[in-house]
Amino acid sequence: MRTPLVAGNWKMNGTRETIAALLDGILAGIGDVKAAEVAVCPPYPYLAEVGQRLAGSPVAWGAQNASQEEKGAFTGEVSVTMLKDFDCRYVIVGHSERRTLYGETDEVVAAKFARVRDAGMAPILCVGETLEEREAGVTEQVVERQLKAVVDKVGAAAIADGVIAYEPVWAIGTGRTATPEQAQEVHAFIRGLLAGHDGAVAEGVRILYGGSVKGANAAELFAKPDIDGGLIGGASLVADEFLTICRAAG
Ligand code: 13P
Repeated sequence: MRTPLVAGNWKMNGTRETIAALLDGILAGIGDVKAAEVAVCPPYPYLAEVGQRLAGSPVAWGAQNASQEEKGAFTGEVSVTMLKDFDCRYVIVGHSERRTLYGETDEVVAAKFARVRDAGMAPILCVGETLEEREAGVTEQVVERQLKAVVDKVGAAAIADGVIAYEPVWAIGTGRTATPEQAQEVHAFIRGLLAGHDGAVAEGVRILYGGSVKGANAAELFAKPDIDGGLIGGASLVADEFLTICRAAG
């Protein structure tokens, strides 16, 4: 049995004040979330404070990105050692915003996955097609290429130490959610690809859905057999909305 995971990707949002209030709200209601694991990924400057606030609570924390380099002269970058130092459990790698806005290639994303895993944290590997790619009928080829780059780099067994997030780019921040059937189809495809390498890894790895998940649509998405929770953007910034999503996962 896979434990569902709901992770909030706060992206570049929040202030110390709004984040303190958001955490208060999440912690006030987290007791009603029985079976799902919950995590939040704040912007870097807030990680220490968020970690202190959440230590000892059921809510884990993680980062939205990490450098593929170990250390050194990389101005503006943050290393996995630093993130581990602040007890991050998760690090998102290959989010579509990183791929499209910051030019991260499949190879860079694979290197980040390896780095995060080697540091003892769980990479949340994002994959997903653009609207153009979906309409061209190449969704599976795109997702397969993105996944293959990581499997080629770290081996299929290592995928078990991470989490996969299927995030169709056209559904991110658009209010246009993939239907549960559309999402399930790609999730099953991803699990099938992994099964071609290692049946146990395929069976055990969590595949989250991300893209305009809200309190109102979470339950029907999470009811699908290969959807093991969600990676939540906008709705993770509103405590009640985020908690509704967490409860829908378990
Ligand atoms: P939204 O939930 O705002 O669509 O963002 C999804 C996402 O990109 C999570 O990583």
